[in-house]
Amino acid sequence: MLSPEERKEIEAELPRYPHKQAVCIDAMKIVQKHRGWISDESIRDIAELLGMSHDDLDSVATFYNLIYRKPVGRHVILLCNSVSCWIMGYERLRQHLSERLGIQFGETTSDTRFTLLPIVCLGTCDHAPALMIDNDLHRDLTPDSVERILENYR
Ligand code: FES
Repeated sequence: MLSPEERKEIEAELPRYPHKQAVCIDAMKIVQKHRGWISDESIRDIAELLGMSHDDLDSVATFYNLIYRKPVGRHVILLCNSVSCWIMGYERLRQHLSERLGIQFGETTSDTRFTLLPIVCLGTCDHAPALMIDNDLHRDLTPDSVERILENYR
């Protein structure tokens, strides 16, 4: 069931859109902000509130890669794997992160501190390689600088 706060925040978005269904991504982001991810139950509740079918909302959630359909860690690392980052050292960073954290893409560390996910271009190709942790963009990365950055996320 959606909490009163989630429902209130979603309903506050409704006047900004021409029809209820157009709020669906914002609604999922709101619930994800509160719960960390979007469960099947949340899909059902949001769909009901917006007058959508479960399957329609689920297909939007699946398409949009910043909606998490399973639990994630306290911090989500989004490592850019597009062309500029590939050229500038993506693979070295990916290997370093996987070894350092003991996880592959799509996995979460056993202490639930980090989840590692790939993402397409972060729009900062002139400072590749790049990644985001939560909402923070980090650029011009090396394995050493990544190591220092990770220490800021507990
Ligand atoms: S390719 Fe990585 S930021 Fe553009």
